[in-house]
This record gives sequence, structure tokens and C-alpha cells, in this order.
Amino acid sequence: MAEWVYIEDIPAYEGQKIMVKGWLYNRTDKGKLQFLLVRDGTGILQCVASHKDVSPQAFADAQRVTQESSLIGTGKVRADKRAPGGYELLLDDLQIVQLAEDYPITPKEHGIAFLMAHRHLWLRSSRQHAVLRVRAEAVKAIRGWLDSHGFVNIDTPILTPSSCEDTTTLFGTDYFGEKAYLTQSGQLYNEATIGSFGKVYCFGPTFRAEKSKTRRHLMEFWMVEPEMAYVDLEGCMQVEEQFVSYIVQTVLKHCAAELETLDRDTPRLENVVPPFPRISYDEAVELLNKDGLEFRWADDFGAPHETALAEHFDRPVFVYHYPTRCKAFYMEAHPTRSEVCLSVDLLASEGYGEIIGGGQRTASYELLEQRIKEHNLPREAYEWYLDLRRYGSMPHSGFGLGLERTVAWLCGIEHIRETIAFPRLL
Ligand code: 4AD
Ligand code: MG
Repeated sequence: MAEWVYIEDIPAYEGQKIMVKGWLYNRTDKGKLQFLLVRDGTGILQCVASHKDVSPQAFADAQRVTQESSLIGTGKVRADKRAPGGYELLLDDLQIVQLAEDYPITPKEHGIAFLMAHRHLWLRSSRQHAVLRVRAEAVKAIRGWLDSHGFVNIDTPILTPSSCEDTTTLFGTDYFGEKAYLTQSGQLYNEATIGSFGKVYCFGPTFRAEKSKTRRHLMEFWMVEPEMAYVDLEGCMQVEEQFVSYIVQTVLKHCAAELETLDRDTPRLENVVPPFPRISYDEAVELLNKDGLEFRWADDFGAPHETALAEHFDRPVFVYHYPTRCKAFYMEAHPTRSEVCLSVDLLASEGYGEIIGGGQRTASYELLEQRIKEHNLPREAYEWYLDLRRYGSMPHSGFGLGLERTVAWLCGIEHIRETIAFPRLL
């Protein structure tokens, strides 16, 4: 029996007899030669069935096999510059595992509604395959960087009794007669675990019942949230720029083929190296007004504002010191200007908008208590969080990077829905 080999490993098998297992991607009929493009998840391989090399049954199968049929081919690996990937398989046998009839996604253009309804099949197309490969590489880079920089992975609960961000975007559920919510962020829990570990991160699914139907919002998305004791706002920005540039540079290095499939303009990404420019919210408002965009101090930026701001820079830009009223209750106050807080957002380049939100957290018990009141949060649910300011409080910071928005930016794709296998949308 020939050895089963994945297509990405084919170059090591030149001249040998092997077996590939996959699906028909495309077929070209050249009479006595049938060219089958076979994909197996790791690559695409040209398999050639010659009338003189295979049985009449196998040749007939090569002629009738349809797009997306599952198949097993055996044959000899041969280097051929004309073949995609530089190798082809000269078949001596072909077995159809299942003949797919009338595969609904054809090379013609389909509308997005049709493609989303067939998401389970659409995932097989080369662009979707490339996007999710980039996502997997980004996840590896995220974990790799944090794990090798002293961050301990502490994952936080998904079912929670309290809110971290906006209370209007909570998904509620019944928890044995009490109300529970799907987590919006693991931040508050990891402000507790830094008291034990110093530097931590959580990485998992996050839920927001956001009624905004935009190309940047999902109801369920993945967020990685590092949290660091004794790190201030500037220290937080330094970690963010190192972290983000590492993710970008690693994807550039390991996903060249995927980025090519996606026609990504890679020089724009090569630029993403520290230091990233830093502007205050005040300066951002000035820039917007200079651009002729109407914007009032104290409002939060919308997508058009973020895009306009990013256009001034050739790499991601930090915007710090937002008005206190735009941000969550836990933001540390500015030491001399009570109207702004020690928050920082990172806006991706090329108009992809906010990919990170974070900042320095309130260290003072009194201020935190006051904020909980001002935000009408139920104090009992935050008693443990107040404890963290009673017992060994210290300056600390952290941030949350949205995986899907980051992947959309890396891939240069319009809509975030393609960056997760099965998107949860409004
Ligand atoms: O700015 P956000 O709301 O910050 C937090 O949740 C903090 N607790 C994080 C922290 O400091 N530990 O969300 C962080 C990031 C955003 O910048 C964005 O990339 C992503 O999460 N995000 C979303 N991504 C997709 N769909 C949504 N509905 C998103 N909401 C936020
Ligand atoms: Mg935010």
C-alpha cells in the first residue's frame, strides 16, 4: 500500500509512490489525459490520469468525477514546473469515495446571502481557506508572544454574574433561577489573577448583543486580554506595539501563500513595526476637524472617524486620554484633568478601525466605589472587585485585542464575517 501523504509534504516524496486523500477542486479534460486538481486542506495538487497508466474503470472515474467529490489517488510524485506547487502526481489508481452531485457553489459569482446560507460549503473555497489559515497563524503568534514574554494564561468564565463593558450589550440567560450573562470580557477576573501571577492573559470567546449591523461587529467574537501589574499607560502601549507588530510580521512570514491568494498589499503590513504613533484624543479631534469632518469633543469615534484618523499614518496609531464619559467604569482618572481617563485604543492602519481597547485601571478604592455608583452598577456584584483595591492595590493596565478585526485587517478583507468559521451576526 502506498503511504498516505498530505499535499504540503509532497516535495519530500519526489519519485516515490504515494496516496493523497481529498476533494476534486477542478478538472481539465484533455482526451486521453485527465488533469484533476485535488485539494486536501494542506494544498492543491495536480493529479494526472493517463489512459495508458490506469485501469479503464479508474480512467472512466477520472472522466466523470465532479467538483467537490471526495477521492483517493495513488501514483508517483514528479516535479513539474507547470503544475501548481511545482509537483504533480502521475496516477496509477483513482478511487471515488463519494460522487458529489450539483455542488451549489460554482466558479460564477454568488451573492453574499447565498454564500452565508452555504457557509458550511463556502469554507472550502480558496479565499475562505486562506482567511482561516491566517486566523490560525495569528492565534499561534498571539499565544507564542505572550507565553514567551512571561504572561501566564488564565482563562476566565464565560457565564458571569456581572458586566464589564456596556450593560446594554449583555446576553442574559437563566442560571438556576438567577440571572447570568455571557461574558463581555475577562478583564475584571484577570485584574484579580495578576495579584497572584503579575502578568496574565485570557483568550476566548466574548459576547456582545450589539444592535449595530456593521462590517466590524459580531455578536460572538474572540478576544485576547493581557493584564499587567505595575504597568502604566505608557508601558501598556509599549507592550501593545511589540505584540501587534509580532503578530503581523509572523503572519507575513508564515502565510505568504495565503496573503497572495487574498491579493493582500503586503508592503502596507511590512510597515507595521514599533514605535507606533501616539496621539491624544484632543489631537485626534483637531485632526478630524481639520479634515472637515464634523466632530464634537466628548463624543466617541464612529467608523468613519477612525478611518479618517488612520489615513494620517502609515502604521497603527494609538489614541489615548479619551473623555471619561466615553469609556467603561474601571478606567483610571487622569491625574490633573478629571474629564479624561487613562484609556488607549489602537486603530489599525488602512481604515480597519479599532482593534484594541484598553488602558490603565482605577487603583483607588474611593474612586472605583464612586464610579460603580455613577454607572448604576449593582455594588454587591463588584464587592470582590473592590477588594482588589483594599488588599495590595497597585497601578495596573491591560488591553483587549479583537481577533476577528485583526484578521480582517491582516487579510485586507471588507467584512469581519469571513474571519470566523461560523459567524454570529445580527
Ligand atoms: O474596546 P473593548 O470593548 O474593550 C474591552 O472589552 C476591555 N475590557 C478589554 C481589556 O482592556 N481587557 O473591546 C476590545 C476589542 C475591540 O478593540 C475590538 O477589536 C473587539 O474587542 N471588539 C469586537 N470585535 C468584533 N465584534 C464586536 N462586537 C466587538 N466588540 C469589541
Ligand atoms: Mg473599545
